[in-house]
Amino acid sequence: MNHIKGTTSLSGLIGYPVKHSKSPQMHNTAFEALGLDYVYLAFEVQEGNLKKAVEAMKTLNAIGFNVTMPYKTKVLEYLDDISEEARIIGSVNTVKNENGRLIGYNTDGIGFIKSLEEKGVNYVGEKIVIVGAGGAARAIATQLAFDGVAEIVLFNRTLSKAEEIVKSINMNISTCRSRALGMDESVLRKEIEDAAILINCTSIGMWPEIDKSIISSPEILHKDLFIADIIYEPNKTKLLKFAEKAGCKYMNGLMMVIWQGALAFKIWTGKDMPVDLIKKAVFEK
Ligand code: ATR
Repeated sequence: MNHIKGTTSLSGLIGYPVKHSKSPQMHNTAFEALGLDYVYLAFEVQEGNLKKAVEAMKTLNAIGFNVTMPYKTKVLEYLDDISEEARIIGSVNTVKNENGRLIGYNTDGIGFIKSLEEKGVNYVGEKIVIVGAGGAARAIATQLAFDGVAEIVLFNRTLSKAEEIVKSINMNISTCRSRALGMDESVLRKEIEDAAILINCTSIGMWPEIDKSIISSPEILHKDLFIADIIYEPNKTKLLKFAEKAGCKYMNGLMMVIWQGALAFKIWTGKDMPVDLIKKAVFEK
């Protein structure tokens, strides 16, 4: 941090809570590695102060900032423009200050797709099954639909939330068919038979509840199915252990987190984040 001087520009994170976030380490390590004159700080913003915090970032001429829970949707009201993907997803995690105009983006879904591509997994023209219908599921499903997936089936405990995402995809992206279903393992088993990828977008299996999984056994999986879990703590969830047993290829959510940051970094700086360095320096310590 001893590179900070009179010319150093600000970037950062707005959310509540934010103290646990790895984003400051990721971005500051990358700024330092590339010799960029920026600094990234985490700002814990109380409810009711979001508008003021966003305006402050503009006033202080920040290069941009990330937005996290619980403000990813609320922040849309205070921005000058929003990318098409972020508008359809309905949430923003990255804001760029373009000469005093704040432009909103969502890099969560693209981050997931980058991590899928790194694993050499094809999704174009395929059927994808997603479990969960929260913010992460919405970003991932919408981005996959945008990027050429043929069919998306969304399972969720609360059916209405899955139905809302499906409605938005079917209304906005004509090349993808999407359906919503309530959680039911026998129906899930049927739906994954001809699917290429199964994605867990719920918090089921996340530390400390590591003995939980969206499925009850590896028997319902088939080895041609790629399994993605957006959880990365633990780094191998019970679902991923089932995937291993069933002979499936799989990935956890770590590279999605790194890529969503790397894409924000690119939006602000125009430069590629050194992702391997970040993985080692920030996450594998
Ligand atoms: P995020 O923004 O990370 O996606 P979220 O919006 O809180 O987080 O969404 C969490 C997802 O996990 C939801 O799909 C939630 O299901 P509901 O919509 O029915 O709440 C799902 N989820 C969390 N705990 C669950 C559990 N014990 N059983 C089933 N689904 C669960």
